Amino acid sequence: MKHIKVSAEHEYQVHLDVHFEGILNDVSKSHNKVLILAPEFIVSTYHLEQFLHPLENASLFVVPDGEHQKDISIVEKIWQSMGEAGLTRSDALIAIGGGATTDLGGFAAATWLRGISWYAIPTTLAAMVDASVGGKTGINSQVGKNLIGSFHSPQGVYVDLRFLKTLSDRDFAAGLAEVIKVGFIRDTEILNLLQSKNTVALAREISEELIYRSVAVKADVVSQDFQESRLREILNYGHTFGHAIEKYSHYEMRHGEAVSIGLVFAAELAGRVIGLKSDVIDLHRSLLQQFDLPTSTHIPFPPLMELMRSDKKSRGDSIRFIGLNSIGTPHWLEDVTSNDLEATYERITS
Ligand SMILES: NC(=O)c1ccc[n+]([C@@H]2O[C@H](COP(=O)([O-])OP(=O)(O)OC[C@H]3O[C@@H](n4cnc5c(N)ncnc54)[C@H](O)[C@@H]3O)[C@@H](O)[C@H]2O)c1
Ligand SMILES: [Zn+2]
Repeated sequence: MKHIKVSAEHEYQVHLDVHFEGILNDVSKSHNKVLILAPEFIVSTYHLEQFLHPLENASLFVVPDGEHQKDISIVEKIWQSMGEAGLTRSDALIAIGGGATTDLGGFAAATWLRGISWYAIPTTLAAMVDASVGGKTGINSQVGKNLIGSFHSPQGVYVDLRFLKTLSDRDFAAGLAEVIKVGFIRDTEILNLLQSKNTVALAREISEELIYRSVAVKADVVSQDFQESRLREILNYGHTFGHAIEKYSHYEMRHGEAVSIGLVFAAELAGRVIGLKSDVIDLHRSLLQQFDLPTSTHIPFPPLMELMRSDKKSRGDSIRFIGLNSIGTPHWLEDVTSNDLEATYERITS
């Protein structure tokens, strides 16, 4: 078992290779009451009710599947359950699921009684390497993705690798997009590993190492800049364009799939405005395509531009992009013009 420390508003650990049943037991014992959130698929496939039955102080709230759970109407229902269960400030919430569930659960915990403890048990690769670590919690709204949220770190993140066995290749690949992002901004060894393990089946064999390396980078960055005053923005590499694509698709596309296109966009933009070498841009495409991730789009440019303007990373009138000078050296692109963006878009539309 490995542990990675994160320093945020409090210190906590990401525990790698645990068994979730033991965690449910331990957390329930250390609080008076716990509310557990999980999507139906996890409840039924992993027999959650069987494990919760002996825990008399635990209640279960089944969340809708996917991105649609990150909605204020669901948060209201969770608050209702918290009220009915009588959750006090010393009680806790456990979110078991993908990134949508850990984002939602963290947000419900942040807002109930101005913040109660919560624990994350991520069940997708995206949630293990990214969403459950770092304390960003939130929901979507008509205005945009993740615009409503709070920084509210969990008390612990518990990665049970057995969950990956039921994860579809599509969802595993979506998580790999975030892993590849980490490779480009900081950890070149990730790129080397994925060049040799060049299919989803092969990459699954090195899940633990990929998770460990990705979490180590995220933990380091978050520990230096928890509230994203600057350094943490490097983790948004590929996300400005990615979020626009994701929103346009009404979340039919996986977050990681949209980020995949966003990574190629960010690399092409860096090529245009700061001279990122073409072989590095090509490496983005080839690595992502190895895992059948999308690298181009047919969505028209004007609505994407509009969505990028409303993204939370824009400050004032400028849209913020992270680019690369070279592999492992992120660069803030401060003065990107509409012309640059349109010309870059032309290079990724097919
Ligand atoms: N807070 C952050 O810092 C942060 C970072 C990255 C991503 N995110 C958020 O995370 C979300 C994307 O994460 P995601 O792709 O995990 O989304 P998700 O939670 O929607 O999960 C994707 C799908 O996998 C299913 N699933 C979950 N676990 C499974 C398992 N073990 N086996 C089979 N199927 C399983 C889910 O039911 C869902 O259909 C987005 O909402 C994104 O905004 C947040
Ligand atoms: Zn992401």
